[in-house]
Amino acid sequence: MSDKANVRNLRLHVVILAAGKGTRMRSKLPKVLHPVAGRSMLARVLDVAELLNPVSIRVVIGFEAAAIQAACSRPHVNWVVQAQQLGTGHAVACAVADLQGVGDATTPNDRVLVLYGDVPLLSVSVLAPLIVAAQASALGVLSTQVDDPTGYGRIIRDAAGNMVAIREHRDASADELDVNEINTGILIARLGDLAAWLPQLAPHNAQGELYLTDIVGLARAEHKAITTRMEPDPLLVTGINDRWALAEMERAWQLRQAQRLALSGTTLVDPSRVDIRGEVVSGLDNLIDVNVVLEGVVTLGCNVIIESHCVLRNVTLGDGVRVRAFSHLDGAQLAAGVEVGPFARLRPGTHLAANSRVGNFVEIKASRIGAGSKINHLSYVGDTTMGADCNVGAGTITCNYDGANKHQTLIGDAVFVGSSTQLVAPVQVGDGATIGAGSTITHDVPAGHLAIARARQMNRAGWQRPKKKPK
Ligand code: UD1
Ligand code: MG
Repeated sequence: MSDKANVRNLRLHVVILAAGKGTRMRSKLPKVLHPVAGRSMLARVLDVAELLNPVSIRVVIGFEAAAIQAACSRPHVNWVVQAQQLGTGHAVACAVADLQGVGDATTPNDRVLVLYGDVPLLSVSVLAPLIVAAQASALGVLSTQVDDPTGYGRIIRDAAGNMVAIREHRDASADELDVNEINTGILIARLGDLAAWLPQLAPHNAQGELYLTDIVGLARAEHKAITTRMEPDPLLVTGINDRWALAEMERAWQLRQAQRLALSGTTLVDPSRVDIRGEVVSGLDNLIDVNVVLEGVVTLGCNVIIESHCVLRNVTLGDGVRVRAFSHLDGAQLAAGVEVGPFARLRPGTHLAANSRVGNFVEIKASRIGAGSKINHLSYVGDTTMGADCNVGAGTITCNYDGANKHQTLIGDAVFVGSSTQLVAPVQVGDGATIGAGSTITHDVPAGHLAIARARQMNRAGWQRPKKKPK
């Protein structure tokens, strides 16, 4: 049987360990729900697990189990509760017990891949070589080399280079502490072997726990084949134990994403001051100034400029768009040549057609603004459809909410709205209409008409101002 066929026959069961309290995080939130680059560690691990197309996925939970289930609920995930956290070996034993009837312990094809909920930057490209390398072995262990191995289990090898044990930091001798090849925690084993080894684990160690890592000794005693694979990039397999490690990982990961963006043709004024918490699809010759946060899916055309201190979440910006400083864009689509800000706020459902302008202190929600239209100052536009080439004066407000329901405002092409106008929805303004400044528009305005809806001005000659009464 060829190697490839072997991998194809493999029936993979993923087990993710996430029952621990994560005491060192000093948090009421379970450790695995803390985010890295905007997404919880466990959600990231689950994403990777799903990409492997396994037969089953089990997540072992204990501390704050309900909160974790609620935050990461997915159709194909089975939850296994480990009531008491007796160690990583015990956690896997709980999952293996739960695999009864799902997995077949009598064939070498059913494999258990153990992942940790606190190793968030894992990827399929890290796991695939381990799965392939270990296909002829009973056990495959993923290691890596780090400058500072403090706290990790060390990979102990004999003179021939074979792994003979994994020694936890607290149980290690002085010589063993010098080893900088560490256990990532990630391993793959045959279900049948694992089911036989786990009941043999004993808590003979400094922490009084059932260590999963002790299966190395059991496999050796049975002369079973063991494979190790060393991941060259430690960041991708680093486990998070405290908030400093979390912060360092966040920075390291952000810098890598910034590098990827820069190398794909975007100028970053300072790569350490752009944060990507999602996915950025970017054309050529874009420029991102300092302190910009990109969240969700952000799609940029070419020659886009994002000035400093902007937050963009789930937005699409066409070619030549300029987002000026201190703007907040969420769920908005901007066509080519649009300019917004400074201090603009675009909320979900905002569509700005080509070359339109949204200026300072303008909020737009669930509205379509036509090509070339301008809303330049201090306005609120909500639930509105506006045609092309309109000019909306400063301080214009669509009164879209009557206290119970939202209503639409429809504005045609080439409409001029004078400053400080209120458009009380539902209301329609026809093409080419003009609205006098300070109007409160409660009735539709026909095309081409002038509407003025304000008190008439009265001038009195010789007006005497009131005088203060003598004390
Ligand atoms: C573990 C490994 C260590 C490795 C390190 C990598 C063991 C004995 N040690 O140590 O060799 O270098 O990870 O990061 O395996 N968990 C449970 N139930 C338990 C205990 C833990 O589900 O009873 C979960 C935790 O929630 C966590 C994971 O297992 O997601 C690892 O536990 P943790 O306590 O962080 O182990 P480490 O001391 O880091
Ligand atoms: Mg850990």
